[in-house]
Amino acid sequence: MKTQVVIVGAGPAGLLLGQLLHRAGIDSLLLEQRSGDYVLGRIRAGVLEQGTVDVLEHAGVAARLRAEGLAHDGVEIGFRGFRHRIPLKELTGKQVTVYGQTEVTRDLMEARAATGAPTVYEAENVTLHDIGGSPRVTYRHRGENHEVACDFIAGCDGFHGVSRRSVPADTITTFERQYPFGWLGVLADFAPLWDELIYAASDRGFALASMRSQTRVRCYIQCPIEDTVDRWTEEEFWAEFGRRIGPDIAARLPRVPALEMSIAPLRSFVAEPLRFGKLFLAGDAAHIVPPTGAKGLNLAVSDVFYLYEALRGFFREKTTSGLDGYSARCLRRIWRAERFSWSMTRLLHSFPGDRFDERMQRAEIEYLLDSPSAQAALAENYVGLPL
Ligand code: FAD
Ligand code: DHB
Repeated sequence: MKTQVVIVGAGPAGLLLGQLLHRAGIDSLLLEQRSGDYVLGRIRAGVLEQGTVDVLEHAGVAARLRAEGLAHDGVEIGFRGFRHRIPLKELTGKQVTVYGQTEVTRDLMEARAATGAPTVYEAENVTLHDIGGSPRVTYRHRGENHEVACDFIAGCDGFHGVSRRSVPADTITTFERQYPFGWLGVLADFAPLWDELIYAASDRGFALASMRSQTRVRCYIQCPIEDTVDRWTEEEFWAEFGRRIGPDIAARLPRVPALEMSIAPLRSFVAEPLRFGKLFLAGDAAHIVPPTGAKGLNLAVSDVFYLYEALRGFFREKTTSGLDGYSARCLRRIWRAERFSWSMTRLLHSFPGDRFDERMQRAEIEYLLDSPSAQAALAENYVGLPL
């Protein structure tokens, strides 16, 4: 079998690339190691930048997002028992849209199924061959071995995927920071007691009050990196969340069962470059941001958009400049999002230890809350830098 582009990984990055390529008349085969239900069961990001919404619109998958997404004009920072609103729209002219990654993925899956473009779920042992010359991908599915020749491979298979691991070690440089904590997240069905997202820096650690709809909330608390979900009861979660987010909300939290509870470690990671011959990395396969800036999914979408433009240029106009410039174009945006995510993480979480650092952190939050220009800088980054 032969196709133009083999896409490894059917998370949001792989699915979106497939959809954009399909609309440009470029064939792709999408290989995913998990089942579709498993992919949809992962609860992850919730905030879309305007640029992300525009790309989803361009891909023809924004109808439900337009109808059900919640447009937010501001975001709140909680500090020492008070909440301060950052008026995103007033400061930048832009909004963010609250619409879960699960829903983006579902819309993309449905769009791909409707196009009839081939997708193989539960593809085992996906292996990349000859990425520097005539690329091929082999995999096993339902007990049979398959081999596909292609012009290009898109590595959209996330942080633990096979693509990044397939490049010779001496051709890739990685940069990494691990943080000494994770986020314990709970999804639950009740009407949000907050109008906009609240990022709270309390003495007990960070908490985030988010939402998925008018009837569903998503909340997180900073937890020790060694914690596991079974160390927490739902009651303990809500009690701790309430202490960090503020007494007015704590007093009104309803007791409803969690739909999902999970822990995500926090990490910053970048691989350079993003191109290795005929292999292009995109999304979490190439970089990870700590979630505090809500950038992970948005960055995956901008990589994919640049890769789509580069591949369209190659197949339609026979130009290689987009492919040649892909890595540098992505990395410029990636490092800015890394910087913002790292600075938001540093600003809002409790770090064990250094008392001088604690004072610096407090001074930085107080400066942010007093300074219109510091707030404008936060807003500019939070709503998303231009694509
Ligand atoms: P992924 O969504 O990881 O998709 C990659 C796909 O490739 C997966 O479906 C995987 O099964 C598949 N795959 C892996 N290996 C192979 C293989 N060998 N062969 C075939 N397929 C393979 N961002 C935020 O902004 N806010 C959040 O709250 C947030 N929470 C997160 C929680 C967790 C636990 C994680 C891991 C990430 C979170 N993120 C969050 C980040 C955001 O979800 C990601 O940036 C986004 O999912 C990136 O999309 P992607 O398609 O690049 O990667
Ligand atoms: C959500 C996750 C984030 O990392 C964030 O910064 C904002 C919202 C969420 O899951 O809703």
